[in-house]
Amino acid sequence: MTNILAFETSCDDTAVAIVNDEGQILGEAIFSQLKEHAPFGGVVPEVSSRAHIEQILYVTKCAFEQASLMPADINAVAATFAPGLIGPLMVGAQFAKGFAQACSIPLIAVHHIEGHIFAGHQDEGFIEPPFIALIVSGGHTALYQCAPDYSIAAIGETLDDAAGEAFDKIGRALGLDYPAGPIMDKLASLGHKDRFTLPIPMRTSDSLNFSFSGLKTKALETIKEHGAFDNKALHDFCASVREAVVQSLVERAFKALKKTGLGSLVIGGGVAANSRLRELLGHMCQQHSYSLYLPKVRHCTDNAVMIAKAAHIKFRRGLYSSNQVDIAATLPIEQAYILQDIVSH
Ligand code: KG4
Ligand code: ZN
Repeated sequence: MTNILAFETSCDDTAVAIVNDEGQILGEAIFSQLKEHAPFGGVVPEVSSRAHIEQILYVTKCAFEQASLMPADINAVAATFAPGLIGPLMVGAQFAKGFAQACSIPLIAVHHIEGHIFAGHQDEGFIEPPFIALIVSGGHTALYQCAPDYSIAAIGETLDDAAGEAFDKIGRALGLDYPAGPIMDKLASLGHKDRFTLPIPMRTSDSLNFSFSGLKTKALETIKEHGAFDNKALHDFCASVREAVVQSLVERAFKALKKTGLGSLVIGGGVAANSRLRELLGHMCQQHSYSLYLPKVRHCTDNAVMIAKAAHIKFRRGLYSSNQVDIAATLPIEQAYILQDIVSH
């Protein structure tokens, strides 16, 4: 049995997980920094770095306790090395390097998006390529094609805002807390989607790219024109916004499947928790006989299980990282291979 210990600290969550080679989660702990950043209205990198430093040892101990394992039971260590905030990435990466050296076990540096892509499995096990992945979060909205050799290429991405960012900005104008996406999802479930007319982004475009700034601008104008929202109007407005975002995501994903001729769709990222997105993708895939891989809701947002799963795939293929591997604030997924500078069989 191979057990991988994984760290995810690229932004505002200190997450640690231990996953075995059957994809079973043996231990999982997370410290969310939402409260630390709330007074500033957004993530402050310096505050985040400090919180990671303060929490990482405790969160790691919690994961080990839950798994009833000792460091000697771990066969490889993984961490997110890119992309993300430099200070926060450095904390997880250095901690992982130290653990790997102390236990004389391999280190596996993982690209954050690879993590979101390979989280896309409700239960145990791993997704086999080829497939299309739709990754939608506060910072990313993109479509990827994963080839049978596990190489990943972006085939469409947002030209402006990410879908989660659009939810968060529209939610802020409505006076909702950050992150507004999950709050708007709940409110939307109480409303009628047809009350407010909002544009469905990129509907007539043949490309696989996304755009949410036009929808965001129209939504912000509607909020201004409407004036104070009573509960009913708030629910209906959230439902109309959610429908426009989700329709656009589903249409682009469908187009990607048709264009590439592939039959499997994986979703990931915080917005993959959206109940309407999960419902409509379910209908679309059932209607066209595509296989749909949905992560558990708690594994849509940033977590370390997804990093452990991506690392297991690399471990199986003998792709390790040396102690020289560095973190990077940005790194296109097509260049993620530079994180593995040792091939061992
Ligand atoms: O993947 P994630 O934790 O962090 C990154 O942005 O990388 O995603 C967070 C984003 C936020 O924009 C949040 O509003 C959105 O995911 N989100 C949702 C839902 N849950 C989280 N958006 C819509 N519906 C949801 N249920
Ligand atoms: Zn993420």
